[in-house]
Amino acid sequence: MEVKSRPGVHTCSGDCYTAYVAENGTIVEQQRAAAEAAALASPVELGRQAYGSCQACHGAGGEGGIGPQLQGRDAGFVEMALTAYKSRETRGDRSNLMWPSAEALSARDIEHLAAFVESL
Ligand code: HEC
Repeated sequence: MEVKSRPGVHTCSGDCYTAYVAENGTIVEQQRAAAEAAALASPVELGRQAYGSCQACHGAGGEGGIGPQLQGRDAGFVEMALTAYKSRETRGDRSNLMWPSAEALSARDIEHLAAFVESL
């Protein structure tokens, strides 16, 4: 009884659906729980999730690699740098490598990433 996605729900009705809801809750309940979990997650935790796309260049622990070491930087510095890259500003000689990553970030993403980097 694998009914995790909406399309699957169509194949599960009657007893199957009752059993699914008893185990997992309704889709609306699942969405509410997910939204509550996201709202409760700390900025650092949300930043940790967003950092997945940064790891390849900055290292899992912010130790650096293709990109500079981030470990040891405070939140203010990270916010300043990411905001600059988001506006395609040139900070160092390889800023172009940061533009695509920063472009996709919202102001909230930047706050969360800054909190996470500071926690490293
Ligand atoms: C393709 C590799 C790459 C990815 C992916 C990447 N970075 Fe970078 N990052 C760099 C490079 C290279 C620099 C140095 C850019 C320069 O010369 O201005 C940099 C610079 C930075 C800086 C400024 C560091 C300093 O000492 O001035 C921060 C902060 C930063 N990145 C955070 C992030 C975050 C957060 C992510 C994920 C959203 C990310 N980067 C994704 C390569 C990358």
